[in-house]
Amino acid sequence: MDKVIEVKNLYKLYRVGDSVVRALDGVDFEIYKGEFCAIVGTSGSGKSTLLNMLAGLEKPTKGEVIISGQHMETLNEDGLVGFRRENVGFIFQSFHLIGTMNALENVALPLSFRGEGRISRLKKADKMLDLVNLKKHKKHLPNQMSGGQQQRVGVARALVVDPKIIFADEPTGNLDSHTSEEVMTLMQRVVREQKKTLVMVTHDNHLATYADRIFHIMDGKIVRVEDNRKKREDKEHETV
Ligand SMILES: Nc1ncnc2c1ncn2[C@@H]1O[C@H](COP(=O)(O)OP(=O)(O)OP(=O)(O)O)[C@@H](O)[C@H]1O
Ligand SMILES: [Mg+2]
Repeated sequence: MDKVIEVKNLYKLYRVGDSVVRALDGVDFEIYKGEFCAIVGTSGSGKSTLLNMLAGLEKPTKGEVIISGQHMETLNEDGLVGFRRENVGFIFQSFHLIGTMNALENVALPLSFRGEGRISRLKKADKMLDLVNLKKHKKHLPNQMSGGQQQRVGVARALVVDPKIIFADEPTGNLDSHTSEEVMTLMQRVVREQKKTLVMVTHDNHLATYADRIFHIMDGKIVRVEDNRKKREDKEHETV
């Protein structure tokens, strides 16, 4: 199997006044192509710190992050920006849509940062909105859509650049439980259909069960890795 993410001996220490916070305290793991992984832990356990290191948004104190064979720690700021633009999609808790742009324009936006022409941009965005079941809302502004619809626009926008990896930090944090389940089902489906690798941070153990594997993080350490695929298979055997 293709290794997409490799983390080795990763530490992130923050100095606050006289004390040191060990936000990441020796983390090691590997994530493979096509996996949907959840990072689960309580508030302050280090989830966002870990995701920021994986995405190259922050520098580790020590250790290695290797994405698709590329060592993040060897890239400078420009290199990181370019790498993210080519390889990574983001889904945010608060959607981060542009209020003055309709759904289609919002989804097309990451392509304009890559210098893609208008017609080709809108065509790809249009296809992505079909994929997330928003055929009827393409001309809607964010404030003319429900939270769940806005987050589906967020998912389409993350996918439009055809990234290898998608990072999501509490993607359903602003949604009710029913809508959260819908968005999770959608993410699960697109990861499978498009063979993407998705890394999602959540504090919600139930939502994490949508993932193939769950990494439990506590005080900056991965304390347990759960394999849901195995559990699902075992369940199928039980019912036969
Ligand atoms: N810039 C910073 N300076 C100092 N300490 C920080 C900084 N960022 C994070 N921390 C500390 O590192 C630890 C991990 O924070 P992190 O944001 O990764 O937690 P989290 O698991 O994402 O929590 P939440 O669920 O509340 O978002 C916390 O103790 C936090 O206070
Ligand atoms: Mg966080």
